[in-house]
Amino acid sequence: MSKKILVTGGAGFIGSAVVRYIIENTQDSVVNVDKLTYAGNLESLETVENSPRYAFEQVDICDAKALAHVFEHHQPDAVMHLAAESHVDRSIDGPAAFIETNIVGTYTLLEVARAYWNDLSNEKKSAFRFHHISTDEVYGDLEGTEDLFTETTPYAPSSPYSASKASSDHLVRAWLRTYGLPTIVTNCSNNYGPFHFPEKLIPLMILNALEGKPLPVYGNGQQIRDWLFVEDHARALYKVVTEGKIGETYNIGGHNEKANIDVVRTICSLLEEFVPNKPMGVTKYEDLITYVKDRPGHDVRYAIDATKIGRELGWKPQETFESGIRKTVEWYLNNKKWWSRVLDGSYSRERLGNQ
Ligand SMILES: NC(=O)c1ccc[n+]([C@@H]2O[C@H](COP(=O)([O-])OP(=O)(O)OC[C@H]3O[C@@H](n4cnc5c(N)ncnc54)[C@H](O)[C@@H]3O)[C@@H](O)[C@H]2O)c1
Repeated sequence: MSKKILVTGGAGFIGSAVVRYIIENTQDSVVNVDKLTYAGNLESLETVENSPRYAFEQVDICDAKALAHVFEHHQPDAVMHLAAESHVDRSIDGPAAFIETNIVGTYTLLEVARAYWNDLSNEKKSAFRFHHISTDEVYGDLEGTEDLFTETTPYAPSSPYSASKASSDHLVRAWLRTYGLPTIVTNCSNNYGPFHFPEKLIPLMILNALEGKPLPVYGNGQQIRDWLFVEDHARALYKVVTEGKIGETYNIGGHNEKANIDVVRTICSLLEEFVPNKPMGVTKYEDLITYVKDRPGHDVRYAIDATKIGRELGWKPQETFESGIRKTVEWYLNNKKWWSRVLDGSYSRERLGNQ
């Protein structure tokens, strides 16, 4: 039977991939609840915005009254909670918004969902799910090169961002233990792919290289991240919300550990292939690599053990890093309109003008 899923943060990078996946691959409906911060971009949803199974509500998850109205009006069967402040560097410069949205916002959403869930019929109540989407950064740093984060790795967040996400994970678990709200948590490694906001590593490097600007790499570039193609993540999340077990945590990862510097070099070599006509004064894209002062508290290595979701729910990534990064670079080359409107700010200026 088809469901109505309330997705928070559906105008963001991963949220928009989830919304597109659900509308394009299932019979379910989506209510996208998004405040439209700088990271929210409705232009990432153009392929699905006219679907009768898609609705958008511009609401802040910290606004209990507006949220309660959305639940009342749309009567969702499940929540997928992705809305968050998500950029580590921004959390170091200004942690307040991270505390507000990631902690207070998650608390507010839990309370509104709980009040709504309490009033459901028994059948709807037992079918309801609250799926909280989190990050592997809550586990902190991995020391040994062989270690992997599992679902039982203790939490040890390092940045204001990861600490706020860790807090929200604890709140979600407590709402299950204390109130019985049927929650599930997923913790995922670094995502990349189409519609990624150009402040994040991979799109930043692609776009800077195309303009002949420096490619800033933190410290010695040896920080290791486990990269997952965003559409693989979206498929995993849908599997979890529809088939996952209440109270469980599932780690999601791509088994693609790469040092940041190698990611940047791979992008450079793909650009050599796709755009051999370089900007003036650039002989090789790699010559643009510039090492900059490391980020404070920078974790050295993250890597996920995603065995459980594979074993229990039959999910595995379809893209390798090599195929996914090729698709990503090609997407940025073919979608200049999307990213130039982000870079010049027009994606949000026009939106404000229309309100
Ligand atoms: N990007 C990654 O690599 C990654 C990895 C693992 C987990 N996650 C988690 O996945 C989720 C989505 O990440 P993303 O990269 O798509 O983030 P993003 O920054 O691209 O998008 C966040 C979205 O949330 C919205 N939002 C922010 N504050 C809000 C509020 N108060 N009320 C309503 N909406 C609000 C924004 O407008 C935006 O559309 C986050 O919870 C993040 O912690 C991200």
